[in-house]
Amino acid sequence: MISKSTIDQVFETARVEEVIGDFVQLKKSGTNYKGLSPFSEERTPSFMVSPVKQIWKDFSTGKGGTVVSFLMEHEHFTYPEAIKYLAKKYNIEIEETMQSDAQKQAADVRESMYLASEYANTYFQKTMHSTDQGKAIGLSYFKERGFTDEIIEEFQLGYCLDDWSDFTDDALKNGYQLKYLEKTGLTIIKENKKFDRFKGRVMFPIHSMSGRVLGFGGRILDNTKKAAKYLNSPESDIYHKSKVLYGIYYAKQSIAKEDNCFLVEGYTDVIQFYQSGIKNVVASSGTALTSDQIRLINRLTKNITVLFDGDAAGIRAALRGIDLILEQDMNVKVCTFPDGDDPDSFAKQNTPEELADYLKVNSKDFIAYKAALLMEEAKNDPVKKADLIRDMVHSIAKIPDTIKREIYVQECARIMEISESVLFSTLAQINRKEQDEANKKHKQEQKTFEVIKQKESPQKVDVQYVLERKIIEILLLYGNLTEEFEDLILKEDDKGDLHLEPVVQEAKVFEKIYLDLQDDEMQFTNENFKSIYYTIVDTLNQNPDFALDAIVHHVDQNLANDITSILMNEERYDLHDWERNNIFPKEKKLTVAQLTSETILSLRCFLIDQKVNEFKHEVIQSTEHHRSILEEVKDYSSLKMLLSRKLNRVL
Ligand code: CTP
Ligand code: MN
Repeated sequence: MISKSTIDQVFETARVEEVIGDFVQLKKSGTNYKGLSPFSEERTPSFMVSPVKQIWKDFSTGKGGTVVSFLMEHEHFTYPEAIKYLAKKYNIEIEETMQSDAQKQAADVRESMYLASEYANTYFQKTMHSTDQGKAIGLSYFKERGFTDEIIEEFQLGYCLDDWSDFTDDALKNGYQLKYLEKTGLTIIKENKKFDRFKGRVMFPIHSMSGRVLGFGGRILDNTKKAAKYLNSPESDIYHKSKVLYGIYYAKQSIAKEDNCFLVEGYTDVIQFYQSGIKNVVASSGTALTSDQIRLINRLTKNITVLFDGDAAGIRAALRGIDLILEQDMNVKVCTFPDGDDPDSFAKQNTPEELADYLKVNSKDFIAYKAALLMEEAKNDPVKKADLIRDMVHSIAKIPDTIKREIYVQECARIMEISESVLFSTLAQINRKEQDEANKKHKQEQKTFEVIKQKESPQKVDVQYVLERKIIEILLLYGNLTEEFEDLILKEDDKGDLHLEPVVQEAKVFEKIYLDLQDDEMQFTNENFKSIYYTIVDTLNQNPDFALDAIVHHVDQNLANDITSILMNEERYDLHDWERNNIFPKEKKLTVAQLTSETILSLRCFLIDQKVNEFKHEVIQSTEHHRSILEEVKDYSSLKMLLSRKLNRVL
């Protein structure tokens, strides 16, 4: 764990405009910087960075947050990775907090395995570029496949000498321990003898999303030997083959930018595509696609195009795996290559323009593709056709989005020349069956859940959300200002009549809000707002001079995003002046004190209305406590009247 003080120091030192400036061209615009969104293709800049508030907002996608959340979004770093990146950039030493011994040991083991892999990666590259055997066999092999020097270097391709243990000996000599070489599978130990797993193979390092070497694929050079063509690192603490995609580190940026990911089978397919300028490409590396792998892509885009070799057997087998993609509500296209070609050979034989063209023309929507393909086979066979319908509907049933599902039913009906109603009723059957199974499974759990479910408040109406958000906005912008609040207090005059009398009181905005809300025992219903609220109130209580702009660095990512959206809302008007001048009506000019009172009063009125409605509901339901409930309603109603009068006065 990185210590809190390191994290604080990173936030204090890092300048959001400098960090983002490394990735996006920023131009000064008033107090802010503006640029083209790195998350979408746009021509007019809607990406804003505020050096004053140390936050950023992308109005084209709605994303925004701190310097750390930018790195997480853009570089797909985890939180610790982002902190480490910044620490490195600003020369801050990272202090680790205490871990339990077991935690430390596990982390140490993994770290040692990473280091061993990193070393092997360097060794394999060095061997290929600077030994005779490496150059004559390894390097020339890659060249023959058409890879350029730049690509060979970028993908860190290498070669492992055709010798029993040259790599292992070298690593041991350089201080790497045998147990980690064995754990990563780089070294095989048999009867006390050590062997290099990848002896005599060209090497493809496999990187994590953030660029660490997790394992390797090694290809044998001649096709005649009996050994497997490709040999991969075994499963280990750092390499889980069902959770990695070859090329994801190189592709992640383009996947997000192009909003599509090409999925191929092999290492060479990825590299050849990349070299041809199609950089948004990853490979499942010969294994059947898994849900975890799809999830990696899902973080970057909702669109996948699966590329198949030109042989029919492979296509049929691959169709099944695609249902997994549909389950994650992603859009799937497929593209096949001419018989005998795979993506690698096709890309090699064609110019980048031809390749791009081919992909554009031949990418077909998966459902339609599958229907057409199966129809071809089932044409005159009614039994097969029935199977086909069921098969198609099974795929469609995986799609979580109902509208999409419906469109596909129509589409399939057209392709398969059957009526939509047949498809819909089959779909209903499948859904019912799955529902039944799900119900059975949940029956026992249900009892305990019921209690909790009822307590969960029903969807709150927007009014409440808007008002809660407004309160947070006021706190963020004006929380520590001192203002004069005019309040109306009920006073008894000489004759014993009650009057509302104005009283002016000076108070800090956050205190006023806190006390008023406490009066009504009012709670935020939005959990994020609630956390932000308490953080602000606590912080200002401890240090009334705290600069609230910095609060965004003291909360977790989730909350930081909310705060950013609220704070950057006003910046939106900077984007287009016409928006400010013509389209949006200006808010009535209120003083901070008026704005605060108005918002709180509105919220209180709203809550009272809700309460009264609840009581009315109770009256209808129960017969016993009528009287007391009605009393309560009366109390609340008069409070509401009082509040409304105050509200009128504010406005
Ligand atoms: N693969 C594997 N082990 C094998 C064969 C294949 O792990 N014994 C994986 C590799 O990731 C390989 C992918 O499956 O890249 C696709 O296999 P294949 O189509 O046979 O290989 P190509 O990528 O076409 O390899 P090449 O062009 O080098 O022959
Ligand atoms: Mn191939």
